[in-house]
Amino acid sequence: MKIIILSKGPDNYSTRRLLEVATKKGHDVRVVDHGQCYLDIKAQNPKVLYKGEDLSAVDAVIPRIGSSITKFGSAVVRQFEMRGVYTTAKSIAIARSRDKLRSLQILAKTENVNIPKTVFSRETSEVQVLLDQVDGAPVIIKLARGTHGRGVVLAETTKAAKSVIQAFYVEGVNFMIQEYIKESAGTDIRAIVVGNRVVAAMKRQSLDGDFRSNIHLGGRGIAVKLSAQEKRAAVKSAKAMGLAICGVDMIPSARGPLVLEVNSSPGLSGIEKATGRDIASRIIDYIELNARRKQSKDRVGA
Ligand SMILES: Nc1ncnc2c1ncn2[C@@H]1O[C@H](COP(=O)(O)OP(=O)(O)O)[C@@H](O)[C@H]1O
Ligand SMILES: [Mg+2]
Repeated sequence: MKIIILSKGPDNYSTRRLLEVATKKGHDVRVVDHGQCYLDIKAQNPKVLYKGEDLSAVDAVIPRIGSSITKFGSAVVRQFEMRGVYTTAKSIAIARSRDKLRSLQILAKTENVNIPKTVFSRETSEVQVLLDQVDGAPVIIKLARGTHGRGVVLAETTKAAKSVIQAFYVEGVNFMIQEYIKESAGTDIRAIVVGNRVVAAMKRQSLDGDFRSNIHLGGRGIAVKLSAQEKRAAVKSAKAMGLAICGVDMIPSARGPLVLEVNSSPGLSGIEKATGRDIASRIIDYIELNARRKQSKDRVGA
C-alpha cells in the first residue's frame, strides 16, 4: 500500500517507528509535513499538493497532527477524505478530540464511561456557585484547548480558584472547572486503543510532586494491567469519539475510572518503552485490515 504519515517531525519517535514498521511490512511509506501541504479545492477534483507534487493517489494516511495547527492539519486530512483516501483518524474526530469541552460533552452521554464533575460557563459573577458544583476547592481549572499538561491548574483554595478564573476571563479563553480527583496524587493511566482493543497501558507518575503526570512534564510511565472496567471505559471512550486509534487518559478513583481526555495522535515513545509492546505494528496491522474496506460514516453526532 501507499501510505503517508502526516507529521511535522520526521525525527519524532512515533513517526520513525510507524515509518520503520510499515516499510518492513513492504509498504511504500513516506513522511509528509502537513504544514507544508497545500490544498487545491477545484470542483470535482480536490487535490493535496506538497512541493508541487500531487499526493492524492495514496491508499492511506496516518495523521499525526500537531496541536498547534489542528485546524489546518485537519483540513489537509479532510481533503484526503474528499478523495476517498482511508485515514486512521477522521478530520472531524481530530478536531473534536482537541476540544476538551466538546469531548467531555460526548463522553458524558456515553454508557460505561464516567468523567470528573465539570462545569463550563461564560463570565459570571457566580463563581462560588460554579465551585460548589464541583464540590469546592481544591479544584482543577483547565483550558479547553491545552495539551501536554500546560493549561491545567490546580487551585488549592477558593481564593486561588477565583483569581485564576478571573485571569482566564480577562484572556477571554474557554476553560472549565473540574473536581480535583485527589486519589490521583499525580498519577493517571494512559491506554492505547487500536480497533476495539486496548493494546497497551501504562500508569504515569509525576516525579517532582506535580499533580500532572504528563510525560512531557517529566512524568514516568510504568506498564500496568487494566481492570475490565478500565479497559471497557477506554474502548467505549474511543468509540464514542469516533477514533479507532487513540490514547485514552483516565484517573482511577473511588468511583471507578474517570476519563479525562482522548488523544487522536498519542505519542508512542513513553508507552512502547514502558510496556515493551510493539504498538506501531498494531497500528499498521489495523490499516492493512481496514484501509480497503469502505470507511464507516462518522455517527458521533456532536
Ligand atoms: N480533575 C483532575 N483531578 C486530578 N488530576 C487531574 C485532573 N485533570 C487533570 N489532571 C492531571 O493533569 C494532567 C493533564 O490533564 P489533561 O486533562 O490530560 O490535559 P492535557 O491535555 O494537557 O494532558 C492529567 O494527566 C492528570 O495527571
Ligand atoms: Mg492529557
